Amino acid sequence: MADQAPMAAVILAAGKGTRMKSDLPKVLHEIAGRSMLHHVLSTVSSLSPKSTVVVVGPDMSQVADAATGATIAIQQEALGTGHAVLSARQALAGFEGTVFILFADTPLVTAQTFQAMRTLRENGAGIVVLGFRPDDPAAYGRLITDEGGALEAIVEFKDATPEQAAVRLCNAGLMAVDGRILFELLDRVSNDNAKGEYYLTDIVSLARAQSITCGVMEAPADEVMGVNSRVQLAEAEAVYQKRRRDQAMEDGVTLLDPSTVYFSADTVLGQDVTVGQNVVFGPGVMVEDRVTIKAFSHLEGAHVAQGATVGPFVRLRPGTDIGADVHVGNFVEIKNAIVEPGAKINHLSYVGDAFVGARTNIGAGTITCNYDGFNKYLTVMEEDVFIGSNTSLVAPVRIGKGANTGAGSVISQDIAPDGLGVTRSAQRQLDGAAARYRQRKSSEKAAGKWSKPDPSSVKNTS
Ligand code: UD1
Ligand code: CA
Repeated sequence: MADQAPMAAVILAAGKGTRMKSDLPKVLHEIAGRSMLHHVLSTVSSLSPKSTVVVVGPDMSQVADAATGATIAIQQEALGTGHAVLSARQALAGFEGTVFILFADTPLVTAQTFQAMRTLRENGAGIVVLGFRPDDPAAYGRLITDEGGALEAIVEFKDATPEQAAVRLCNAGLMAVDGRILFELLDRVSNDNAKGEYYLTDIVSLARAQSITCGVMEAPADEVMGVNSRVQLAEAEAVYQKRRRDQAMEDGVTLLDPSTVYFSADTVLGQDVTVGQNVVFGPGVMVEDRVTIKAFSHLEGAHVAQGATVGPFVRLRPGTDIGADVHVGNFVEIKNAIVEPGAKINHLSYVGDAFVGARTNIGAGTITCNYDGFNKYLTVMEEDVFIGSNTSLVAPVRIGKGANTGAGSVISQDIAPDGLGVTRSAQRQLDGAAARYRQRKSSEKAAGKWSKPDPSSVKNTS
């Protein structure tokens, strides 16, 4: 795209967002684990802007801090969208090219749409406005076009005549404007309207009065939806999830029941990955080719190497690195652990702060006791280790290459390579003892020596 004019983006985020009913600024609410502002910033960055300006209110340092890589412009008072863009004037001084004006609460617009607006702009339009045809045009601004479809004006709903209000083509709010005319037009916008605000949308009729060409680029309604409430946030989440599911399948992932799989914005899945029903990908998951993730698994901050099988009912927490062809199954939780190729952890285990060597087999019910109430410690199982069922590994502890632990052992000392650690007491054999026990208990009960336990009889002793 070497022949394209430079582009800059002004992202408006100074609105109060009161309808969210939240202490958190609206644009920091998340879709797929990423703030709406971050969604807009990352889409914009794929267009390599020369400059990105985020317009915030005077008391919005949280938003300013979240706008990494962008210049912050402060709009002292929320006097309207046109006034908001004017606050970015200083930050864009000397810029020549196309200025995109975007809303931080309209997070689902794609880079392709921006690119199409940019091309239309550079092919001779002074202003390109993003339009859509919502089922319910409600209070959106109406796009007034001439017979040829060229844009003549944007009329805010509150200022519209009945004839203008009947127009179905609406303003999504986003624009691409020739940087040479933007601020000069904005200087002439007044607040003489129903809301008493400086409307960005007025620059269209001002441009038309100077015979500057204005165009409309139409997008699907679900792409340009704005988020003003938690209900709309959930709707935007659903649109985004559907998009990610479809994209995953396009990229060669099988989803056994797509609508039950949830992605984070940064989820990466390789080719020929199969994902079962009700799987949740939290932030920071990278899954390589040919992995199977079975139903009801929850992954977050985890890397899964090729050919591995995870699930059903597996919980992978941050810092988990699953090697090639590893099997992790039924009701296993793993955190901050490296699991080397070919290892197996198949049943009811907790593996935290651990290194699991290649081909090591961890038996059912194994627990790494990694926390003493003050600090966390490492458990190391070298390669080809066999951990017997229901072993407690009291960290820090190291199980040498090829060593075993006996089932039910509490292992608190290192085991040398090829050794066996076992801490069980020897079994006693008492013939007929169970029968004698049953007889004693049933006669006690018959004699009324048993009463229902009463938790309320326990007094706090402190
Ligand atoms: C705006 C458009 C309307 C369009 C609609 C689409 C104008 C005048 N109207 O109306 O045509 O159909 O969006 O959703 O532009 N903001 C500031 N400072 C302000 C005012 C707003 O930064 O002083 C920011 C808000 O944070 C928000 C965006 O600008 O991100 C849009 O503002 P909002 O008040 O929601 O505009 P609408 O009335 O919805
Ligand atoms: Ca709005």
